[in-house]
Amino acid sequence: MAEVIPLAQPVLGEEEEHAVLAVLRSGQLSLGPRLAEFERGFAAVVGAPHASAVSSGTAGLHLALRAVGVGDGDEVVTSPFSFVASANAALYERARPVFADIDPVTLNLDPQAAAAAVSERTRALLPVHIFGYPADMPAFEALARTHDLGIVEDACEALGARHADGAAVGGRGHPTVFGFYANKQLTTGEGGMVTLADPALKERIDSERNQGRAPDMGWLDHDRLGFNYRLSDIACALGIAQLARLEQMLADRACVAALYREALADLEGLRLPCADANGDRRGWFVFVVQLPRGVDRDAVVRALGERAVPAKPYFPAVHLMSFYRERFGHREGEFPVCEDIAARSIALPFFPQMTDSQVEQVAATLRAVLGAPEWP
Ligand SMILES: Cc1ncc(COP(=O)(O)O)c(C=O)c1O
Repeated sequence: MAEVIPLAQPVLGEEEEHAVLAVLRSGQLSLGPRLAEFERGFAAVVGAPHASAVSSGTAGLHLALRAVGVGDGDEVVTSPFSFVASANAALYERARPVFADIDPVTLNLDPQAAAAAVSERTRALLPVHIFGYPADMPAFEALARTHDLGIVEDACEALGARHADGAAVGGRGHPTVFGFYANKQLTTGEGGMVTLADPALKERIDSERNQGRAPDMGWLDHDRLGFNYRLSDIACALGIAQLARLEQMLADRACVAALYREALADLEGLRLPCADANGDRRGWFVFVVQLPRGVDRDAVVRALGERAVPAKPYFPAVHLMSFYRERFGHREGEFPVCEDIAARSIALPFFPQMTDSQVEQVAATLRAVLGAPEWP
């Protein structure tokens, strides 16, 4: 039996061990000096004037939506092809996530479909840079200007991505949210970051992540509603250590993606992640392929698993999840592009230190499974 390949694996080493030990020895485990250091370093990486570290990407989305004024009864136009957190964040403020279909190539929210979904109640657009591929921000910025809408970018999967105009994802000024869960390009175990241009919004987010404490940090002086969405100094130290070798970590992921592209090129009917086009550049996070039509996706995932290759259906369409069906009455057929792609997509094992032979093993197993006679 072949060795089981992990689906994802963080790359943490001695630098992280030293950094965490130093925090433990300093005695300042939270709200210490690493917080501002991590924020400054991260903001510099994406070219944003400011950054606020938070306890998760989800917490960041929540605070970012509040910061652009989303509240009770508002609508937020977003993608149904995402992790559920991007839609849920609107619900935390009793706003409604309104879905629009996706672009069949980039798999990102389609600007034209988003425009058609804007109503009098729309307060903000929430494009997701899915699988690290940059969403069409110039189009969303034009749409937001026309209707006076806020923008929050979900870049939880997109560290390292760049737009055609050279701006890094996260550097356009709108609150943009990154996630640092264990499978992400940079990980603090759990964690997130909001990058943004407006210092007043940074002040608001910093206060709301810390129970609404006043900006002068007066002891127990809380002048607004807040949350505990703080990121500890231990987590920040992990992040700082990785920032120092981020370029290499991102390059390693891109290298594994290139190996996959080559190894899977001959698999007929299999759709690979779209190549960088028109100057946009992906920040590699996962390697998701679309299976040929007519193939039983769940059976393929099972068969791969039985052959030491873990794979996951990724992503299921958010509007068809039971909670969203029951709460909002969503049904099949509303967003055909998303539904077709969601039904055929699987994430293959993907992590920066994956070897040529592991990639080959995945490709050979997928080839064998798809070539088996039981498939139509
Ligand atoms: C697209 C997207 N949005 C939001 C999130 C939420 O981030 P977190 O798990 O850090 O709360 C994730 C994380 O997996 C994600 O992939």
